[in-house]
Amino acid sequence: MSSSFETKVVHQKFDQKQVQNSKNTPIYQSTAFTFKDLDHLESYYEGDVPYLYSRERNPNTDELSDAIATLEEAEAGVATSSGMSAILAGILATASPGDHIVAADDVYGGTHKLLNAELDTFGIEVTMVSFADLEQVKQAIKENTTLLYTESVSNPFLRVEDLSGLVELASEHGLYTMVDNTFATPYLLQPAKEGIDLVVHSATKYIGGHSDVTSGVLVGKQELITKATQKVVTLGANLSPFEAWLTQRGSKTLGLRMKQQSHNAKVLAEALAANEHVQQVYYPKHVSERGNGAIVTIELAETVQVESFFQSLGWIKIAPTLAGVETTVSYPVRTSHRALSDEERQQIGINDYVIRLSIGIEEASDIVSQFEQAIQASIK
Ligand SMILES: Cc1ncc(COP(=O)(O)O)c(C=O)c1O
Repeated sequence: MSSSFETKVVHQKFDQKQVQNSKNTPIYQSTAFTFKDLDHLESYYEGDVPYLYSRERNPNTDELSDAIATLEEAEAGVATSSGMSAILAGILATASPGDHIVAADDVYGGTHKLLNAELDTFGIEVTMVSFADLEQVKQAIKENTTLLYTESVSNPFLRVEDLSGLVELASEHGLYTMVDNTFATPYLLQPAKEGIDLVVHSATKYIGGHSDVTSGVLVGKQELITKATQKVVTLGANLSPFEAWLTQRGSKTLGLRMKQQSHNAKVLAEALAANEHVQQVYYPKHVSERGNGAIVTIELAETVQVESFFQSLGWIKIAPTLAGVETTVSYPVRTSHRALSDEERQQIGINDYVIRLSIGIEEASDIVSQFEQAIQASIK
């Protein structure tokens, strides 16, 4: 070893092959992997060595995508930099320039924007219709349609998609199906088992679960995941090893969290339905045997002053996200659906009184009393 400082400071002592038997997978915070000679390098291209360059593949992102594919009972998966990039990768794996997509008109605001403001630059045409009526979806299918896109539980009104009806319609027309399963999570629903081709997650939400990481996962049929992975690699939409590690660590408590959060949400939905200052409570009647999810959307009655409701929430914070362990509230008009025109919002029923509640793991009775207190304090 050369004795000059400049060389020693770079080549610090490190035995890459030493096996530590660590209980958790270490973070492979490395942009690339090294090779002892040219034969070893060649073995990567022959498929005998898995890793070369982290944008293409990394043990931490592999571990995350494998874990979610297993939970979803899907053939394969790919981890991405965000839910949005997972959605884009899935779309680009199923539609090419000149193709057409039929998508649900009540998808997450960011997805709405991607479909309407960006996909035309890829030469992909989009028609948005209500998926509550599959006849409307059928009418929207054209010669060049390749994909039907929707969410298993919609945002913010929590409409539960008829997945088997969708699969049947798609197979009649030889189309791919892709479902955003962010709100339901594989704890409640496993759309791939119903025959859905691609399932996407904003892992930023329940899979990560702690509001400390932005990430996405796309799982589904091997052939489509191979294509989507190619898009992720080329577009540089890969997830960093640290963020993959954080997401996977969070995912280990998904079962416990969803169980508690779904229970709390049900208790709150029942309490708010009995409150005369709440015009409407949106909470699904049946998502799965395990529960109905942890989001409750309410429309306050006009007897409530909305600004003052937000000011009276005490320990419940206003946050433009969902799915953390803490109960939070968001205001679709100002956040998730801000990019939509008034007309588009009106069409899907979002008005100034609609508020989305993301229920956490706290004690249910504390959550109920905090919301009741906020409503009481803001009556006009
Ligand atoms: C249902 C749904 N899908 C996709 C996304 C986008 O995910 P991300 O913010 O991780 O890109 C969100 C974000 O809120 C979402 O709620």
